[in-house]
Amino acid sequence: MAANVEVIEPRLFESVIADEIVAVINEVLGEHPYCAISLAGGSTPGGVYRALARPPRLDDVEWKRVKLFLGDERWVPIDDTQSNFRMVRETMLSLLPEPGPKAFPVDTTLASPAESAKAYASLLKRELAADSQGAPHFHLVLLGVGSDGHTASLFPGDPLVADGALVAGACKDPSGQTDRITLGPSVLFRADKVFFIVKGEEKAEVVRRILEGSETVNEVPARLYADAHSEVTFFVDSGAAKHLSR
Ligand code: 6PG
Repeated sequence: MAANVEVIEPRLFESVIADEIVAVINEVLGEHPYCAISLAGGSTPGGVYRALARPPRLDDVEWKRVKLFLGDERWVPIDDTQSNFRMVRETMLSLLPEPGPKAFPVDTTLASPAESAKAYASLLKRELAADSQGAPHFHLVLLGVGSDGHTASLFPGDPLVADGALVAGACKDPSGQTDRITLGPSVLFRADKVFFIVKGEEKAEVVRRILEGSETVNEVPARLYADAHSEVTFFVDSGAAKHLSR
């Protein structure tokens, strides 16, 4: 499936994406009791989450009807500086008025990353409706990409990249060797909409590989978008779009 590509000026990047997210949430809430979103981790999305948590968007959404989950998490304590949930709490949850969204962190206090992944998969099945294939259904999935082509914590060469039955699994970040929990490809790429959020010239080459290359998904997991059952949009700033031919 082809993806939409939106190239945005760096200074407008966060606010344009935040407006798009608000529009999706309100479209979903017009037809459903809640809106289920899988959030991206890492550093890029923090500015988008801050933009969601300030006027006018702050008041444009009935946040109590939004359910927030993590597309992946580092297996660290929830107050660790590496925790994606901590980043989400600091950049959005702590800034939204009560009653805010219902946010579901990964329980990283369990005996092992595998136990945490198993518990998160059960939580997703409990909290979300199942789609036609029985997978927990998201209305919107936000994703970043690493310079090696990973997305969420689906890393090049990791067997999870090809695990179509996986709801949530445990793996390791090959660069940092930190344990990770990640949602599986079929959960992430069966959402109604998938927004990739990629900023910075240092991502220009991986964006070219993802959108214009011919490598396999095992080599560049973010290329899973091409087989998505979702409407996929890449929001890239002009720096990250620099190596694109069109
Ligand atoms: C994580 C993320 C990961 C991230 C990319 C990009 O837990 O690190 O989920 O997939 O989106 O590595 O990270 P940056 O936004 O920090 O470049």
